[in-house]
Amino acid sequence: MINEQKFTEEKIVWVKQHSPKHLTFAITRPENYRFAAGQFSRLGFREGEGYIWRAYSVTSAEYAEELEFFVILIEDGAMSRYFAQIQAGSTVLLDKTAQGFFMPQRFPDGGDLIMLSTGSGIAPFLSMLQQPEIWQRFDTLALVHSVSYQSDLIFNNFIAKLSEHPLVGEYVEKLRFVPITTRENDAETLHFRLPESLKNGSLAQALGLEFSREHSRFMICGNPEMVQDTFKTLLEQGFAMHRNKLAGQIILENGF
Ligand SMILES: Cc1cc2nc3c(=O)[nH]c(=O)nc-3n(C[C@H](O)[C@H](O)[C@H](O)COP(=O)(O)OP(=O)(O)OC[C@H]3O[C@@H](n4cnc5c(N)ncnc54)[C@H](O)[C@@H]3O)c2cc1C
Ligand SMILES: NC(=O)c1ccc[n+]([C@@H]2O[C@H](COP(=O)([O-])OP(=O)(O)OC[C@H]3O[C@@H](n4cnc5c(N)ncnc54)[C@H](OP(=O)(O)O)[C@@H]3O)[C@@H](O)[C@H]2O)c1
Repeated sequence: MINEQKFTEEKIVWVKQHSPKHLTFAITRPENYRFAAGQFSRLGFREGEGYIWRAYSVTSAEYAEELEFFVILIEDGAMSRYFAQIQAGSTVLLDKTAQGFFMPQRFPDGGDLIMLSTGSGIAPFLSMLQQPEIWQRFDTLALVHSVSYQSDLIFNNFIAKLSEHPLVGEYVEKLRFVPITTRENDAETLHFRLPESLKNGSLAQALGLEFSREHSRFMICGNPEMVQDTFKTLLEQGFAMHRNKLAGQIILENGF
C-alpha cells in the first residue's frame, strides 16, 4: 500500500467522452509536480480499506497548468469503472512522482523521431508533440497511430491544429502523421498492423522516409504484444535497442 504522504488528492477539471470507451480529462496539477514528456503518472482511488493505482501517460505539455490524460475504458477494469463515472469536481489520487524512461531526450540530436503507437499508446507522444525543444532537436517527427476502427482515431483534430499552436506551430512542416486502421478499410489510412507495415515497406512509403541506422530513432508504445513484435521486426531489420552506454535506435514502453 502507498503511504499517505506519497500522493495528493486532485480535482477533475474537465472530462470529454469521445466514444463509449475513449475518455480525455484534465486534473489539477500540484505546483511542485514535475514530469518530462513521455513519462507517466500514477492515478488512483480509495477502495474499501485499500487503494487502486494504475499508470497513465501524461498527454499535456510539461509547461501546462493542468495534467491531461487519455484513457481507454476496459470492460470490467477497476480503474475504468472509476473513470467511467468521473465528472468535473470529482477527485482522483495522484502519486507525487512521475515515472518512466520513455523520453526522446535519451536519443542524440538530429535524425527522424519515429513514434509508433497502438490505442492509448499515442498518449506519451501527444505530450512530446507540444514540446518545442523536441521539434528543434529532430529533422522529422513521424507519428503513427494504429487502431482497429476509424472512430478510434480521436486525435486527428488535435494533430491538424498543431499548426496553430503558439510554441510548436512554426515547426509543423516537420510532422508526418500516418493513421492505421486494422479492421476497417478506406483510402486515407494504411491497414497493415505495425510489424507487417514495417516488413512490407508500406510504412516507410506512407511516411516518405527511408529508415536507416544513422537517421531513424524509433519509439514504440502500446499493446505489449505489438511492442514485442515490432521490436523483433526492427531487430531483424538491423536496428538495436538504445541504451545509455550503447547507442541504438529503439526505445520502447509497454502501454499496459
Ligand atoms: C507505463 C504505462 C502507461 C499507461 N498509460 C495509459 C494511458 O495513457 N491510457 C490508458 O488508457 N491506459 C494506460 N495504461 C494502462 C492503465 O494503467 C490500466 O491498465 C488501464 O487503464 C486498465 O485499468 P483497469 O483497472 O480498468 O483494468 P485492468 O484490470 O487493470 O486491465 C484489464 C486488462 O485490460 C487490458 N488493458 C489495460 N490497459 C489497456 C489499454 N490502455 N488499452 C487496451 N487494453 C488495455 C489488459 O489486457 C489488462 O490486463 C498504462 C499502463 C502502463 C504500464
Ligand atoms: N479492438 C477491438 O475490436 C476490441 C473489441 C472488443 C474489445 N476490445 C478491448 O478493448 C480494449 C481496448 O482495445 P483497443 O482496440 O483500444 O486496443 P488494442 O486491442 O490494443 O488495439 C489497438 C491497435 O493495436 C493493434 N494490435 C493489437 N495487437 C497487436 C499486435 N500483436 N501487433 C500489432 N498490432 C496489434 C490492433 O490491431 P487489430 O485491430 O488487428 O487487433 C489495433 O490496430 C482492450 O481491452 C481490447 O481487448 C477491443
